[in-house]
Amino acid sequence: MSSALDSSAFKSPVFLFGLTTGIALSAVVQYVLSYVATPQTQKSSLSVPVPAIVPPQTISVPLAAHIETITRLEKDFTINTSMMQKIVKQFVNEMRKGLLSDGQTLKMIPSYVCNRPRGDEVGSVLALDLGGSNFRVCEVILEGQKTRLRQKKFVISDALKNASGTDLFDFFAECVSKFVEEHALDLNVKRKLGFTFSFPIEQTAINKGTLMHWNKGFTSPGVVDKDVVELLADAFARKGLHNIEIAALVNDTVGTLMSHAYLDSQTHVGVILGTGTNAAYFEPMDKIPKWRGGPVPSNEMVVNTEWGAFDNEQIVLPVTKFDRRLDRASPNPQSQIFEKMISGMYLGEIVRQIILDLIGTGELFRGQSSENLQTPYHFETAYMSRIERDHTTELSDTKAVLEDILNIPSTTESDRRLVKRICELVGIRSARLSAAGVAAVVTKINRFDGCTIAIDGSLFAHYPHYANRMRDALREVLGLTAENIVLEQARDGSGQGAALIAATASY
Ligand code: GLC
Repeated sequence: MSSALDSSAFKSPVFLFGLTTGIALSAVVQYVLSYVATPQTQKSSLSVPVPAIVPPQTISVPLAAHIETITRLEKDFTINTSMMQKIVKQFVNEMRKGLLSDGQTLKMIPSYVCNRPRGDEVGSVLALDLGGSNFRVCEVILEGQKTRLRQKKFVISDALKNASGTDLFDFFAECVSKFVEEHALDLNVKRKLGFTFSFPIEQTAINKGTLMHWNKGFTSPGVVDKDVVELLADAFARKGLHNIEIAALVNDTVGTLMSHAYLDSQTHVGVILGTGTNAAYFEPMDKIPKWRGGPVPSNEMVVNTEWGAFDNEQIVLPVTKFDRRLDRASPNPQSQIFEKMISGMYLGEIVRQIILDLIGTGELFRGQSSENLQTPYHFETAYMSRIERDHTTELSDTKAVLEDILNIPSTTESDRRLVKRICELVGIRSARLSAAGVAAVVTKINRFDGCTIAIDGSLFAHYPHYANRMRDALREVLGLTAENIVLEQARDGSGQGAALIAATASY
């Protein structure tokens, strides 16, 4: 891609103006840079920092263009309080519709999990956890309000995500077999297994359910519309793994909720903010009119909202042209719109889309690009974390990401400030949308008086400021009552929760 700053640019009035008034301009540059670095949740400082001498050649694009760029992006990516309130209202409506009948945007899937853990469960249970990027095999030892865990993690390659269903499930069986061997587990003893399968499943029993459709980059043929427990049992049989009873099929949000409720009985909601995003919560049975599963042993059931699909019709979500581009190029267009604006799989790709756009208009890197930057999903969400965490004076860590990892030939400090601001805008929007989802669930179950939300996933655990940004947003929509809502980090919840559910499946 050609440079936007060719030789004619040096004769441009902007350049000449810059050359003759470089020192005076430097104060303005400093002010603009400080503005660029101001997080969205804070008011920008009105005080102009002490001017430093900035050589005019550091002004890679006309100043006015940068201000305009930032203002434009802030307008597109800011979710203000009144927008959040609209989102919450629509969310609660969609939840109600989903509980009333099948085929709605929010699937609101009854999980067949009715009992809160008693906290006195004991025994050794196996758990498998297919999330987004990894597959984990665990042995969970329940010791009554305490659990111990042995686990092995396997990376799911992109090839495997698209391989045949038989290959995918044979891989799971192979992983279990390795784990059994490594830990010398005695399979002469019958063992229960909880299977966390974190995709939309039409559940028909605690250990039965068909995959409705794939997401998070999986397309593996031969699995949609099949009972995934049967597919796993067949793969175990092919591998000669006997005596394993698949006692529960569980979504990761349900597992997270249950494992946290084991420790803290105030836990009413489980949320995943990782590769994908979703939430589950306890709903009274009389508020699930579509339930046709017969009598249950309790007056409440965990409902898996599948909130990643919220507002697929794009009625209230402020979807930008960058979100639309990402969606169009994804394997599942027009679905999981909320997830695509929030979760770890997509945030880096949104930033990449914005950067490419600004390179195209010459607003960034003097129009220079790189092969890495041109490659879909090569701007990882982890880079955003690194950039947001970069507090060096010249953003040298951001420079390393852009120049050494992404191979952009050269960047100016002002380019880097702009990239950092883009990361902030996309990161803040994600946290505020997640908070809107949490506010909606809390509103639906009317738990303003006190409620713990158990949250697992890399975004919540590792993305800088994520939890605080969510808390700020919750305060904006819920006012003082937000103080009663505790957002708590849950770790390895889904595997432990699945084990717990498998252990108690019969009562
Ligand atoms: C996707 C899946 C959902 C899962 C979430 C988090 O949204 O559809 O079932 O809970 O990712 O892993």
